[in-house]
Amino acid sequence: MKGLTGALLFVFAAVSTVSANCNGDIKVTSQGDLDAIKTCKKYQGGITIEGVGTNKLTLRGIQTLKGDLIVKDNNALQTLILENLQVIDGQLKMENNKILSKFEPKALSGVRSFEAAVQPALSSIVFPAGLSQSDRFVVSDTTTTRIDGLKMGKVSSMVIDNNIYLKSVGLNNLTEITGSLTVSANSPGLNLDIHSIKSIKEGSFRNLAAINLDGLKQIVGDISFISNTFSELRLKELNDIGGTLTITNNNQLTKLSLPKLHRLGGALSLGQNSQLATIEAFPELEEVDGTLDIVGTFDEVKLPKLSDVSNIPI
Ligand SMILES: *[C@@H]1O[C@H](CO)[C@@H](O)[C@H](O)[C@H]1NC(C)=O
Repeated sequence: MKGLTGALLFVFAAVSTVSANCNGDIKVTSQGDLDAIKTCKKYQGGITIEGVGTNKLTLRGIQTLKGDLIVKDNNALQTLILENLQVIDGQLKMENNKILSKFEPKALSGVRSFEAAVQPALSSIVFPAGLSQSDRFVVSDTTTTRIDGLKMGKVSSMVIDNNIYLKSVGLNNLTEITGSLTVSANSPGLNLDIHSIKSIKEGSFRNLAAINLDGLKQIVGDISFISNTFSELRLKELNDIGGTLTITNNNQLTKLSLPKLHRLGGALSLGQNSQLATIEAFPELEEVDGTLDIVGTFDEVKLPKLSDVSNIPI
């Protein structure tokens, strides 16, 4: 009996050195905690890096993480490297890491949700392998100057706001937003080129120097353009807006053009665009189901095809 127990213990020990324990939630306090799981190609469980005293952490070995990777409230962490991680079947959330200046997700191509928030030292967010899947993508309140390597074709929600140095976001593969897209309060020089997007459910665009929405055909719900500094807004393929269109407080806007817009399911709200003298942006607009709320000192408002509106308080 004694001999048998000894033999079983020996077998167990031998197995556990070959394959480390590749599941379970872990809370990382040092590099050693990450090295302990580096023989796992696949890890199942959450990995939390919170309040660590070390300035550099590298996650090696793991290619697939089935669980969340949370990196938050670290005051000493400067560098975070994800060496081999390709897919996170869960969220990657980085929040309130005071001096984190280098984040390198070298191989990452898919994550359910990516969020970087309150990162006062992070100067770039780059996905060198190309992030081709991310259902939710949030970059908020960081010092990043650019976001590169986004290759998603479709996302459900995207928020890019309060990144006061952010001048460039590459989104060339994006064709559909099934939820909402919010871009607001980034660098006043941000030129947002999202010409490949065909359909958006809800959109909100503020404080932009330029926007390219040349491919946009349909907006399922509401869309708003508020406090931008561009002089021209062209939505040249846009056919249908299910909700309300708001264009207000764009004080350098001189040209507005929506040559194909037929229908507005909600209201049309135009106001405080002080340089917009003539409104002839809507040659094909036939139907507005909500109110027409057009405020300004216009020389002319032309809505040639519009016959049926309940309320025109110009
Ligand atoms: C992104 O677009 C480029 C150029 O259009 C294309 O070659 C590439 O395959 C696309 N990537 C993904 C992941 O869809």
